[in-house]
Amino acid sequence: MSQFTHHIFVCCNQREPANSRGCCDPSGNEKLRDAFKSEIKKRGLKPLVRANSSGCLDQCELGPTVVIYPQAIWYGGVKIEDVPRIVEETIVGGRVIEELRIPDEQLNCRKK
Ligand code: FES
Repeated sequence: MSQFTHHIFVCCNQREPANSRGCCDPSGNEKLRDAFKSEIKKRGLKPLVRANSSGCLDQCELGPTVVIYPQAIWYGGVKIEDVPRIVEETIVGGRVIEELRIPDEQLNCRKK
C-alpha cells in the first residue's frame, strides 16, 4: 500500500453570496485544485502526493485556504500563480512559505 508524503486539501466549499460567513472563493476553487493536480502530475509526484477538494476548512475569511497533511501546513490567500511555488518549495523542498502561511494564532481551530 502506498503512503502519501503530502496530501493537499483545497477548500472548494461554496456559500451563497448573502451568507455572512462568506467563503474562500465564490467560484469554488476548483481551478485552484486542478492547478495543484496538474502541477503534481507534471512533476511526476504521483502517487506519493495528492491534491483533493475539501469542504470548508473553517478558515473562510483567510481563504482561499489550502492545508497540507500530514505536515499540517496551512496556507491562506492562495492564488493559482502560487501553485508551482508551493509544489516546488513546500512539497519538493520541504520549506514553508511564510508569506502564505496562516499563523497558528490566526487559525480558527486554535482560537478557542
Ligand atoms: S469556505 Fe473555505 S475555509 Fe471555509
